[in-house]
Amino acid sequence: MKSILAPGVTLAGLLCAVSAAGVTGSAEGFAKGVTGGGSATPVYPSTNAELVSYLSDTTARVIVLTKTFDFTGSEGTVTATGCAPWGTASGCQTAIDQNSWCENYEPSAPKVSVTYDKAGILGITVGSNKSLVGSGSSGVIKGKGLRIVSGASNIIIQNIAITDLNPQYVWGGDAITINDADMVWIDHVKTSLIGRQHMVLGTSASNRVTISNCEIDGQTSWSATCDGHHYWGIYLDGSSDLVTLKGNYIHHTSGRSPKVAGNTLLHAVNNYWYANTGHAFEVDSGAMIVAEGNVFQNVANMVDTSSVAGRIFTSPDTATNAACTSYLGHACQLNAFGSSTSYTGTDETFFQYFSGKNVASASSASAAQASVPSNAGVGKI
Ligand SMILES: *[C@@H]1O[C@H](CO)[C@@H](O)[C@H](O)[C@H]1NC(C)=O
Repeated sequence: MKSILAPGVTLAGLLCAVSAAGVTGSAEGFAKGVTGGGSATPVYPSTNAELVSYLSDTTARVIVLTKTFDFTGSEGTVTATGCAPWGTASGCQTAIDQNSWCENYEPSAPKVSVTYDKAGILGITVGSNKSLVGSGSSGVIKGKGLRIVSGASNIIIQNIAITDLNPQYVWGGDAITINDADMVWIDHVKTSLIGRQHMVLGTSASNRVTISNCEIDGQTSWSATCDGHHYWGIYLDGSSDLVTLKGNYIHHTSGRSPKVAGNTLLHAVNNYWYANTGHAFEVDSGAMIVAEGNVFQNVANMVDTSSVAGRIFTSPDTATNAACTSYLGHACQLNAFGSSTSYTGTDETFFQYFSGKNVASASSASAAQASVPSNAGVGKI
């Protein structure tokens, strides 16, 4: 039989090329079953406008990024009066006076002039049924974040980088916002040089969310702690949120890594925290956290002990960890600590909320240590 394929092209090769344009693997944990744009024919935006249109329209789409989409300058700059809550030394962040934040929260902070890029302030709206996937390590969105809000559901963001959102300014922009959503999977995404939150789940219900294999890179020349480490890492608020945080590499931050509040059930498993000068977990009222199989290396404090208003289980010893089995489907794994201050949390009163949910599996902390730093982030799949 005469082949319909060009010489040297195999059917297997073609099929491989097709699948390479879509999502790799599938979500574990609470957002298990998310399909995003499913089997829609991939589209390859070439301009910022095309990217915005593909992301925000009402069509199920697989959107593949093959280059950097640079939004800096696209909406102009703003010069205004802000404030300097941590002083005006060169290593400190200053703040945009968003919604009178300076007057309301930092009334004694000196006023300073701020000039920021307007595009960074508000992210691109992402509609339902979308997969946004980078090709190799080439998919980059610069100067603007993503907003998964207002009832959006069934969304996959995989293998892209988001960078350069007014990093010198608090309120300069959030990389990924999720608020009033359901079934969202953020995987192998790298965020860096962000003004405000790298990831933020707002006060409305974000329902089922999995954040996996991401790199939160907090290295910055402008920090709220004035020490090269970004304070505003991950903020998990929400009235009804189930968040799986697995396999992420969270480094060079100094706080909110994550801050957990509202009514948020968080399964933090097999993550690698490194070089944190403040704290990883901030356990606010309404937080319900199981932390297992994680590595804390050079983390000043696993938990911000100045206030622990919510509930946390830190998988303290194998006998205690057996209690996880009936609810999470496995015995919880010990966390590992190197040059870090650990925290013992033994609250099991919320384990019942894991029952009947999709719960991510857990490896040992040593397995996470071996794999996470080299596998998390963009360009690794
Ligand atoms: C998303 O896909 C589902 C299933 O096909 C469909 O019911 C829903 O209307 C879609 N949402 C939007 C906003 O198109």
